[in-house]
Amino acid sequence: MTDSWWKKSVVYQIYPRSFADADGDGMGDLRGIIDHLDHLAELGVDVLWLSPVYPSPQDDNGYDISDYQDIEPLFGTLEIFDELLAGAHARNMKIIMDLVVNHSSDEHPWFQESRSSKDNPKRDWYWWRPARPGMDSGTPGAEPTNWGSVFGGPAWEHDEKTGEYYLHLFSKKQPDLNWENPEVRQAVHAMMRWWLDRGVDGFRMDVINMISKDVSLPDGRLNAGSAYADGSAAFIGGPRLHEFLQEMHREVFAGRDGLLTVGEMPGVTVDEARLHTDPERGEVDMVFQFDHVWVDRGPDPWLLVPLQLTALKAILGRWQAGLADVGWNSLYWNNHDQPRVVSRFGDDSPAHRAASAKMLGTVLHLHRGTPYVYQGEELGMTNHPFGGIDEFRDIEALGQYRQAVELEGRTPEEVLRVLRARGRDNARTPMQWDDSPHGGFTTGTPWLPVNPNHTEINARAQRADPESVFHYYRRLIELRKTEPAVADGDFTMLLPHDERLYAFTRRLGATELLVIGNFSGVEARAEIDGWEGAELVLTNLERPAAGLTLQPWQAVVYRRAV
Ligand code: NOJ
Repeated sequence: MTDSWWKKSVVYQIYPRSFADADGDGMGDLRGIIDHLDHLAELGVDVLWLSPVYPSPQDDNGYDISDYQDIEPLFGTLEIFDELLAGAHARNMKIIMDLVVNHSSDEHPWFQESRSSKDNPKRDWYWWRPARPGMDSGTPGAEPTNWGSVFGGPAWEHDEKTGEYYLHLFSKKQPDLNWENPEVRQAVHAMMRWWLDRGVDGFRMDVINMISKDVSLPDGRLNAGSAYADGSAAFIGGPRLHEFLQEMHREVFAGRDGLLTVGEMPGVTVDEARLHTDPERGEVDMVFQFDHVWVDRGPDPWLLVPLQLTALKAILGRWQAGLADVGWNSLYWNNHDQPRVVSRFGDDSPAHRAASAKMLGTVLHLHRGTPYVYQGEELGMTNHPFGGIDEFRDIEALGQYRQAVELEGRTPEEVLRVLRARGRDNARTPMQWDDSPHGGFTTGTPWLPVNPNHTEINARAQRADPESVFHYYRRLIELRKTEPAVADGDFTMLLPHDERLYAFTRRLGATELLVIGNFSGVEARAEIDGWEGAELVLTNLERPAAGLTLQPWQAVVYRRAV
């Protein structure tokens, strides 16, 4: 790997259908992104990650792709895409594409061919299996394994035409591609090169640690109370994953500079991530791991577990230590699959929303790694006040609700309580540009309602207010550019047992930074010596009165020479 410019960079994720709608059909589009490039340039981000913009039946909002080499008509055309790419490049921002190749859409021609007959040349491009031995195809329980799919229901779909089942770890409209077949890998590599030749700057690789499966497809462990088993031991970090990633690197990325590759890897361990991101091995530049966003998830998926700050620190501290000398990590609180962080780990009441949003940003961005800002995070956007299940649109929320209520005996209210707090639609309500009806997102009817708080929380108001979350994020991003210890310094966790304060230092040469965030609504004092007289580089509230006493939700960053 040639350089590591991305260590000094900040990535901004755009979820196109919810970002900005230029043509009034209620759905965001590429033209809408072009119209707002200056907002992103002003924020100072370096890389834009576009969630999928390819043709798609939109079963999973574009993560079900029916043509990898075109643009979804709802979003625009290839010509408009080229215009977007040029507009971003002209502002010194790169664009990385979402690469969704663990599965395609069932409407992709590859799958259409594959399902057409048992001896079609593309049959083996997907995972086809007969019914469980001794059982009749299509009868309950005859699926080849007992695995559940992520979106509820079994991970296998019976296909009438040939009487076999195909594997879909996600929805039944997202059949898993068979990476064991070299033709599949070659087709994916060719497609990736095509986008790079067009000028894109890399890829965020969707659930890329699921592409290699244990080909014996063993049954999974059945947890008490659940209708289907967890088969992940057979497909998370499977036997050929490193080989597949190294091959992809050789075939697609070798000899090209200035690119970024990010592997989304649910369930990846620190040790595996070290291997995946060791530049010597030529796999990916950084991983996107999940441990810290699973901190408030207990064994029972339908119980809300409150945040325990010491647990969060233990997890992130372990990742910092594990990748300290080799490898690199992504830093994120939010994306299109997570609830809004200010509602989750902060306090979204009017009194503390802005302060806690800024505090959370400070703590995250000053870890070692590349920070990600998800659209609206720079405004401190909050969760949406969802009511009943009919207000949700996300296939995951709807599928899991159905399985929990209809098959597992949960009450609608207990499931809804969790979906309201953690559901993915919280992140997917439209971007809040101004205080006009529908928040300036669309002149039509938005596909998902705009949060009613857009009258208070919106980009126009915040860009005009130097004390806003937006301008605080701008300063935070700038700090990464001006203070080398932010990107390159080493990391030491402090106060690991404190349930209110998140504190750490970063050190590079003779410069040391002290970062403290108060994750609580009460004043708290940090017992850390030696920082009297240090320079206050950044804080989200008035300067702390005396010593290291932080007000509710305060963040401070100090610098000293050592
Ligand atoms: C991870 C993506 O982030 C998520 O939105 C999607 O539903 C699944 N992968 C399946 O593609």
